[in-house]
Amino acid sequence: MELTDIIEKRRSIRDFRDIPIPNETLEKILNYALLAPSGRNAKPVDLIVLKDKETITKVMNARTNNFGFLKTAPVCIVVTADEESSTWCADASIVASYIQLLAVNYGLGSCWGQVHGRYFNDKSVEEEIKRILSIPENFRVLSIVSLGYANEEKAPHTLNEVNKSKIHYDHW
Ligand SMILES: Cc1cc2nc3c(=O)[nH]c(=O)nc-3n(C[C@H](O)[C@H](O)[C@H](O)COP(=O)(O)O)c2cc1C
Repeated sequence: MELTDIIEKRRSIRDFRDIPIPNETLEKILNYALLAPSGRNAKPVDLIVLKDKETITKVMNARTNNFGFLKTAPVCIVVTADEESSTWCADASIVASYIQLLAVNYGLGSCWGQVHGRYFNDKSVEEEIKRILSIPENFRVLSIVSLGYANEEKAPHTLNEVNKSKIHYDHW
């Protein structure tokens, strides 16, 4: 598939079929995602792969109002990064985006669940997930990306959606 087709096809998928993702596919997604560029080539990103339903439910409950889409996901990838790197948030965002594009390449759907900067019941979702998953103090949690075979159909994006006034040449 052309990269442009992959970009068009990537939609947020929030309902998944009860079919496991082959380990080989998952390994490819994880490894290719970690080839993403990072500031000063620091490579601060660590990924936590969740398959255990009980753990996924605990993480889902950290932001129940918004993480309902984790419920049917056979796999969730928690995207974390060492805050020692000043570009941790950008670096982690690129990895998460790569994961979503790689998912399309392997016939999977995905959805980005925001963790960093989000609160649920006045509690930091990031702190709650760090506690649940024993994530080291110096690591930040950007997002949780669900992965699986889609149980919903969404039309691909098209270039007609692009607001051309968002593109500026030489000056604003
Ligand atoms: C930074 C970021 C945070 C997001 N957070 C959530 C989230 O917490 N929960 C959710 O269901 N979707 C989340 N999304 C998915 C967006 O809602 C979705 O990408 C947007 O509505 C466009 O739809 P599309 O992905 O199908 O193109 C997030 C996406 C991004 C890029």
